[in-house]
Amino acid sequence: MYRHKGASNVHPYLLAAIIPQMSRRGKFITFEGLDGTGKSTQLRKLAAVLRAAGHKVVETREPGGTSTGERIRRVLLDSGTAGLSPLAEMALMFASRAQHIAEVIEPALEHGSIVLCDRFTDSTEAYQGSGRKLGTHAVLELHRVLCGDLQPDLTILLDSNPAMSVGRARRRNQRASRRGHRGHGDENRFEQETRAFFSRVRDGYLAIAKREHGRVAVVNASGTPDQTHRQIREVVSRKLKL
Ligand SMILES: Nc1ncnc2c1ncn2[C@@H]1O[C@H](COP(=O)(O)OP(=O)(O)OP(=O)(O)O)[C@@H](O)[C@H]1O
Ligand SMILES: [Mg+2]
Repeated sequence: MYRHKGASNVHPYLLAAIIPQMSRRGKFITFEGLDGTGKSTQLRKLAAVLRAAGHKVVETREPGGTSTGERIRRVLLDSGTAGLSPLAEMALMFASRAQHIAEVIEPALEHGSIVLCDRFTDSTEAYQGSGRKLGTHAVLELHRVLCGDLQPDLTILLDSNPAMSVGRARRRNQRASRRGHRGHGDENRFEQETRAFFSRVRDGYLAIAKREHGRVAVVNASGTPDQTHRQIREVVSRKLKL
């Protein structure tokens, strides 16, 4: 039977070859927050500064990020998807995520990239767990089974008042549909939810941040894009030394 004998038996030359490989795993940073808090805007800005500093950066999003995931995204976000049960909604979110981890996130981390992901499991906990009242336990259990319990190295939670951020997202989507853009133009299903729904989602996010304060940094997203970006750069350099 194989028995682990500890590093003391490993030849020093072998250790010297292994350690840089091990330390080369990338970093996984997720952006979270209500619709319209500026996640996509801020992700792009952070990607640009990290690339300028010489890092390999992968920008991706959920639901989506793979060709299967983008098809699932269309079902989930299209306002024409009527009568989707909350459990089916949660299952589709996780189907997209399991594929995304296998096809994009894990390979990129193994290659040493910084993966910036627009929404991840905290979104499912906040929207389906709190917003749809499916509870935290079901989400965390599915995350363990379907996602191998993969945890981000850092989560940036953009926080602002729901009326303000959801209003921004609605105006953006109205502009996009007037211009006939696919993508945001037909991604209105969640934005039709009530004020009470978004208030539960925000509370859900803040509860996650409290429980996982080492991983989740709450950033005030009610200022200008540049003000928010400065706070994010400060958090990223303090927590990840990037
Ligand atoms: N700090 C800000 N102040 C004012 N407007 C902003 C700010 N940040 C982003 N916006 C604008 O608000 C809209 C929503 O921003 P963005 O698309 O980045 O949000 P999001 O969090 O990705 O939303 P969603 O969850 O719907 O994808 C966009 O039109 C964007 O240009
Ligand atoms: Mg976005």
